[in-house]
Amino acid sequence: MPKSATTSRRRNVVLALPIRLDRAIRGQSQQVHAALRSAIVDGLLAPGLRLPSSRGLAEQLGVRRNAIVAAYEALLSDGLVEPRHGAGTYVAAELPAPQAAAPAADLDIRIPARRPFALGVTLVDPSLLKRLAAASRRRIAQAAPDELGYGDPRGSLHLRTQVAHYLAANRGVRCDPSCILIVSGTQHGLRLCIDALLAPGDAVWFEDPGYVASRHTLGTTGAKLVPVPVDGEGIVVSAGESADRKARAAYVTPSHQFPTGVAMSMARRIALLDWARRADAYIFEDDYDSEYRFAGPPLTALAGIGAERVIYLGTFGKTLFAGLRLGYVVVPPALVARVVGARAAQDRFPPVFMQDALADLMADGVISAHMRRMRPRYRQARDAVAEALARHGRDVLQLAAPSQGLHLLATLPPGAPKGAARLIRDRAGVECRLLSDARIVQRGPDGFILGYSGFATRDLANAARELARAAKEVLSAASRGR
Ligand SMILES: Cc1ncc(COP(=O)(O)O)c(C=O)c1O
Repeated sequence: MPKSATTSRRRNVVLALPIRLDRAIRGQSQQVHAALRSAIVDGLLAPGLRLPSSRGLAEQLGVRRNAIVAAYEALLSDGLVEPRHGAGTYVAAELPAPQAAAPAADLDIRIPARRPFALGVTLVDPSLLKRLAAASRRRIAQAAPDELGYGDPRGSLHLRTQVAHYLAANRGVRCDPSCILIVSGTQHGLRLCIDALLAPGDAVWFEDPGYVASRHTLGTTGAKLVPVPVDGEGIVVSAGESADRKARAAYVTPSHQFPTGVAMSMARRIALLDWARRADAYIFEDDYDSEYRFAGPPLTALAGIGAERVIYLGTFGKTLFAGLRLGYVVVPPALVARVVGARAAQDRFPPVFMQDALADLMADGVISAHMRRMRPRYRQARDAVAEALARHGRDVLQLAAPSQGLHLLATLPPGAPKGAARLIRDRAGVECRLLSDARIVQRGPDGFILGYSGFATRDLANAARELARAAKEVLSAASRGR
């Protein structure tokens, strides 16, 4: 037997060892791609190693041969394998930069052209964008005819399944993918559910202060907003009942109240769910930034304890970036038909290739690795802002540094003159929202909602120092003028 044939057979035997398919991933080619990709990235298949023929590997794994061909093409676009003319496919001699966790300070990040402390901005990791681009190219190139049509109005089953796994593992929400709708972000999901479930003029409790974009969304759907105050335990349910016991819904941010940062207490959660049951009302749970928790175990979402009343809204806008325009809604089983019916009459779903590409990255663990890398970076950013404000503005700014999320709230002392916050913001040259923008009923001192997720740590610390300096100047000038 010629020497080269013996060698290649021996290599094929070695290859049989490290590959195990994850049958939970949809599609044989995706299963093979994920298994080979991990084996290459983890170093189980050495650079320069020849991969078996598509026929040989198909036999070994018990899958269709064209699933292997498609997986090899996908690995090619990942830069993980290289074809050699007439000699088969080889593990790339030089692999792209690994995805392993890097020290937070070393991340090669593009900083968006906004000023600190703009909200809704995240750091974008170019290597993640490359992965997303490769996955969406692959999805477009390999689209089956039935993936090019209208499809299920709920969106990609692949992405819904990945979201269901994520929610069960991280948020305590157990739901079937049939109850999930993929939407273009939280506001889209909220509008969709309001259109499907409420009538114009229906009363909706709204946290005060609360999230301005959701307030506008509710306002433009014709809902009647009922401002309900927030205290150190979250929305004050008794105040909501006094204002309008028969409201049809409540919009809340229980894991990390926007903008105060308060986590709703268990007693308050139970009171809210009890009210919703008695009033036959819905709760819109906006769980917008739970991916980034810096201390303690993840809080169970409200939908994890009262699923039959709660419509859960999640977004990839914080996990990845807002321009992706992908989010999801989990609807109680009894409401699915109504919401899906309304959805079919509207836009159906965001572009299918992007949904499936994102689901591929979730299935491959790329998104959870990204969150693991970003968490220390964002925690560092939070600490830099909190430390600079504490050092330079102790007398003029009161802080609530949150244990999760991507913004913090700094308030002026009681008695600060009207209009001072706006003046301070302008003088400091920062781009933040004011607490008064988020209030419906103006009460208590004004303050600054400081987004820290989109900026270099040094720039954040400098901006915090400027904010503190401006606050001192404006407040002492005001007290001199009194
Ligand atoms: C309270 C709150 N909800 C939801 C979102 C995300 O909205 P969307 O998914 O529509 O981008 C944000 C983003 O800043 C937010 O602050």
